[in-house]
Amino acid sequence: MRILGIETSCDETAAAVVRDGREILSNVVVSQENLHAVYGGVVPEIACRAHIESLLPVLDRALQDAWIALCEVDAFAVTCTPGLIGALLLGVAAAKSLAFAADKPLVGINHLQAHVYAAYLGPGAEPPRPHVSLVVSGGHTNLYLTRGPEDQELLGGTLDDAVGEAFDTVASLLGLGYPGGPRIEAAARGGNPKALRFPRTTFGPGCFDFSFSGIKTAVLYHCRGQNASLKTPARPIPDLPDVAASFQAAVVDVLAAKTLEAARAHGARAIVAGGGVACNTLLRERLAADGAAAGLPVFLPPRALCTDNAAMVAGLGYLAYRSGRLADLTLDAVPTP
Ligand code: KG4
Ligand code: ZN
Repeated sequence: MRILGIETSCDETAAAVVRDGREILSNVVVSQENLHAVYGGVVPEIACRAHIESLLPVLDRALQDAWIALCEVDAFAVTCTPGLIGALLLGVAAAKSLAFAADKPLVGINHLQAHVYAAYLGPGAEPPRPHVSLVVSGGHTNLYLTRGPEDQELLGGTLDDAVGEAFDTVASLLGLGYPGGPRIEAAARGGNPKALRFPRTTFGPGCFDFSFSGIKTAVLYHCRGQNASLKTPARPIPDLPDVAASFQAAVVDVLAAKTLEAARAHGARAIVAGGGVACNTLLRERLAADGAAAGLPVFLPPRALCTDNAAMVAGLGYLAYRSGRLADLTLDAVPTP
């Protein structure tokens, strides 16, 4: 079965064709990064306008790259939750129109479940279940116990900022620009991760929630002075690489420690990570090392499948279709699940 997936939940316009839930025939992503960079974060109205411009060319390209015509698509899958309401609506409207015009089934997909499913794409990628899944992105920081790709029990999540948001804010504080994650990672290469001891907020054993607002404030005070606010004028940061490396180390410590603890506490047989922040090399290395030490296999999608893409949506769409979870033309966008 060839499923066409559509993803427009945030600032990537993406379409992909995946065969039988595993084999990626095409995977087209147009990022709006440059449009939002000047504002230091995603501006919903700009995201919507850019999706409108990109969506049809991206869909055409996904079909062309897969060497198929629209009538050869067996079903359509679309991210319908969570995300920016206007952005989601555009993808959902496009998917409904295509399914109606081509007279083919439609499935609605949860974006966060799709981030976990990215670890299942490709031949032989079959994380043993149950596994813990860490979904770390610009909008979410969630830990799940995954019994099946659509059977995810939420163990904990962030109580304030998502970890990607913390990377983006700290990068902006450091004058590194947007998106922050890759820039902090690059700046950290020249720094000492032990130079500064930033707070590692955990809520004690057995709690799998996160909080990243404290570390953001700690970086702000370090760079602009005690009790500074975001409006306090920036000043030179002579130890910028050390700040970046120490921030990254603190965040990765918390994410890896909580993931391992959750895996042990819930008898998980593997560890999976997904979402844009799962591109981070230090996080990948730490999860791989900690998983190996605990005797648990670790499944990390290739970086291009960690950030938002439609292959993960089409892949999970196949399973949803197989389990008979079909949507009809009343499918709606739901910004928070
Ligand atoms: O999953 P994603 O593409 O979009 C959302 O669903 O939010 O994640 C985007 C987030 C951004 O906050 C970005 O700064 C972060 O992922 N990110 C990274 C890295 N690459 C992207 N964070 C840390 N290290 C990276 N290398
Ligand atoms: Zn995402």
